[in-house]
Amino acid sequence: MEEIVTKKKWWMGKVAYQIWPKSFADGNGDGIGDLYGIIDKLDYLKQLGVDIIWISPLYRSPLVDQGYDISDYYDINPLFGDLDTMDRLIAEAKKRNIYIVMDLVVNHCSDEHEWFKKAMADPDGEYGRYFYIAEKKDGKLPCNWRSYFGGSVWEPIPGTDKYYLHSFHKKQPDLNWENPKLRKEIYKMINWWLDRGIAGFRLDAIINIKKKLPFKDYEPDRDDGLANIGKMLEEAEGVGEYLEEMKHETFEKYDAFTVGEVFNDKESEIAEYIGENGHFSSKFDFGPELCGKKADWMDHEKVTAEMYKEAIFESQARTGSIGFLSNIIENHDEPRGVSRFIPAEDLCDTSKKALACAYFFLRGIPFIYQGQEIGMENCRFDSIDEYDDISTKEEYRVCLEMGCDEKKALELAYTFSRDNARTPVQWTGGSNAGFTTGTLWMKVNPDYKRINLESQRDNKDSVYNFYKKMISIYKEPKYHEILTFGEFIPYKRNQKNLISYFRQAENKKILVMVNFQKRPQCVEIPGMTGQIILDNTDRSMTDIIKAAGIDENRKNGINIELTGYEALVIELI
Ligand code: NOJ
Ligand code: CA
Repeated sequence: MEEIVTKKKWWMGKVAYQIWPKSFADGNGDGIGDLYGIIDKLDYLKQLGVDIIWISPLYRSPLVDQGYDISDYYDINPLFGDLDTMDRLIAEAKKRNIYIVMDLVVNHCSDEHEWFKKAMADPDGEYGRYFYIAEKKDGKLPCNWRSYFGGSVWEPIPGTDKYYLHSFHKKQPDLNWENPKLRKEIYKMINWWLDRGIAGFRLDAIINIKKKLPFKDYEPDRDDGLANIGKMLEEAEGVGEYLEEMKHETFEKYDAFTVGEVFNDKESEIAEYIGENGHFSSKFDFGPELCGKKADWMDHEKVTAEMYKEAIFESQARTGSIGFLSNIIENHDEPRGVSRFIPAEDLCDTSKKALACAYFFLRGIPFIYQGQEIGMENCRFDSIDEYDDISTKEEYRVCLEMGCDEKKALELAYTFSRDNARTPVQWTGGSNAGFTTGTLWMKVNPDYKRINLESQRDNKDSVYNFYKKMISIYKEPKYHEILTFGEFIPYKRNQKNLISYFRQAENKKILVMVNFQKRPQCVEIPGMTGQIILDNTDRSMTDIIKAAGIDENRKNGINIELTGYEALVIELI
């Protein structure tokens, strides 16, 4: 047995899983996913090999932005359960050695939060200073920033000549982090949850907490005269001071795991964010998610295998061994990874496994989003009214405004909407895909008869069993060390549609090789041959070598032919 080096931090080498609670599993039959459903599925997640579960917001909320609009940080939304049930989840997870990570949404709260209500009643009072409230100057709003969900960031406060700022929806007023009192309130709340036994947080929109002040206009980038709020973020400096203060006042005391939703950090800032003493334990690698994205849906480019490869390789190269990225192919804000990164005509179990293999063994913490492990795909909706997501509706509106017809706009929604990842998890091929016995809050993807867990569980060739195997290899003591800490080294980076890399530690080398195209392609296995530890085609090394017509005893580089979307993980000897 190999020696396992003591881990530097408890969360390194763990496998994480994201739950978007409304669509995960309904435990009480009202058509909406909930804490009871999550508790019921803990054994399932354990069997899959999951160690950390990040749950998107469960707090009390009017759900305008599906929980990212919190009206009470100290309570659970009654739709999902209550605090006792949350405690039960934490306890049941602990029994199974699973860590619960919550979502921390502190750039903004809901306009139904009592702080905001008090601020509206007295904008010049104590709670007014919890938010950004300003007046027009010379008849002009304080700045021309466009909120993420469309329109100006400024919303009038009825009965006054004042406005409040919202970076997202108008029902999500931004909290004023310049105010030490507000910051203290936030830290108190964070510690209250950590005391309850959660293991950490995913930090929502966290870079937005620092604004570039005083407010000023930027060059408008559309006919609405507004400028993307991202322009302001590029100039805002000093967010690190808040992040450090928050870390010292909260996370650090509990050895908590934190993963930041960070989009716009600069290369020089990686260590500051996720280095040994960084602000967070980890941050998501959004490189692949940003692939091909432009300001509007209409301008987005199709993602090619080469674009995807360059995105992940670039992030790996930038990060090196400075820290741990959290690697994803999708989340609740993105379309399904398999629909985005695999051309529609090539979408099948083999290509889904190939994509899984390409990202899962990257250096960092692998995150799996609910349903990803069974290969869930984008979902078609027949009209914009069927969509739930506020951002989808806004993007759709912009498409129409820019001259797109409804059919085309709907097609774009099918490709890019966040609701693609928000349809209920397909547990069975039965009624409502086994998600609920009640009335669905959102439609199930009609493909559920073809794609569901029930049909995949006992099928050794299923996507689900591939994920299970991938996780068990990742955790195997022989490989765990190298797959956690081993260096990432690209292999044949210039070979088109080949995604291949080594994970390397002192005297061990693992080679991941994925032919990310339908056509076969030849590739050289470097040095001596090795042993296949994972594959998606069921060919043994002997088969592969034979097919290549090579003498099996040859000890230096051999050329093999990978079949379409073939993925191999090889332990090189
Ligand atoms: C990022 C979250 O993931 C997304 O769902 C939400 O709409 C925004 N932040 C605002 O909280
Ligand atoms: Ca329910």
